[in-house]
Amino acid sequence: MEFVHYPVMAKEVKEFLIPINESNPLMVDCTTGEGGHTFMMLNTHPNLTVIGLDCDEHIQEKAKFRMKEFGDRFIPVHTWFDDYFKEYDGPLLDLVLIDLGISIFHYEESNRGFSFKKEEKLDMRLNEKSELTAQMVVNTYKEDDLANIIFKYGEERYSRRIAKAICEARQLNEITSSSELESIIFKSVPQGYKHGRIHPATRTFQALRIEVNHELDRIESTITNAVKSLKVGGRMAVISFHSLEDRIVKWTFKNLEKGCTCPPEAMRCTCGSKPMVKILTKKPIVATDEENKINPPSRSAKLRVIERI
Ligand SMILES: C[S@@+](CC[C@H](N)C(=O)[O-])C[C@H]1O[C@@H](n2cnc3c(N)ncnc32)[C@H](O)[C@@H]1O
Repeated sequence: MEFVHYPVMAKEVKEFLIPINESNPLMVDCTTGEGGHTFMMLNTHPNLTVIGLDCDEHIQEKAKFRMKEFGDRFIPVHTWFDDYFKEYDGPLLDLVLIDLGISIFHYEESNRGFSFKKEEKLDMRLNEKSELTAQMVVNTYKEDDLANIIFKYGEERYSRRIAKAICEARQLNEITSSSELESIIFKSVPQGYKHGRIHPATRTFQALRIEVNHELDRIESTITNAVKSLKVGGRMAVISFHSLEDRIVKWTFKNLEKGCTCPPEAMRCTCGSKPMVKILTKKPIVATDEENKINPPSRSAKLRVIERI
């Protein structure tokens, strides 16, 4: 079996995610993917057990295959990470890793329309048990709603033009494939934007994927709930890939470090919330130039780490 995703900032993750002691540590990898980080952690710490979550059954099969040599030290669970931590009542954890977003697998092997370079069905669901597909979003959302999503989740400055072009095209025929959508977007943007640093469909495809999988809505609650499951001294690392994700991670970490949620003008604290974590990365860690050369997704990655106190 071939593994197409190269784990981002693996060396840095390994340096931060150190179990409290080596006797029987437990880690949750919230986003196991093909298992690059999990494999490295299991290899490094011979007594570590990893509970490996993923909402995508197909990629999880690859992780299961890859982790065979570790026997029951790898426990795969097919779930959304926010659902998992909403109900977590297992043993306290040493380590939690969240490597947000999607894997190279999704672009290259999933056949679900994540890549605008391919002729695939417009699906974009990470979890095929979900109902909403990209085809439904593109063909049924009102023009304004579509434009807002493309602007908000894609930070696309031509969101209005793109939404208009999509709505005009779908009046003729339902838009069903990734390449069809790519061509509609490409034709709708100004000439100068067609040959810029990134393909003009990149941001719209990102926005649709985020909408279909409710990606941003899941981050804050997962971090807040997962922190409660950490041992004192336990650590959580989060890798984000765009500013929308990183902003949520940064503020959630800050709030957990601050504890008190009373308004700044309050004379004294009445909420009683205590600081729960120490932030170990005052500034986010970014990948080395060396990694950026060989692992393109690492170019936009930011790693932030907290420790439970
Ligand atoms: C960036 S990849 C992880 C790569 C992995 N760390 C590695 O080294 O191979 C993110 C993975 O998380 C999964 N994922 C994304 N959002 C999720 C969520 N809310 N709950 C569970 N899994 C999620 C995706 O299906 C994908 O497989």
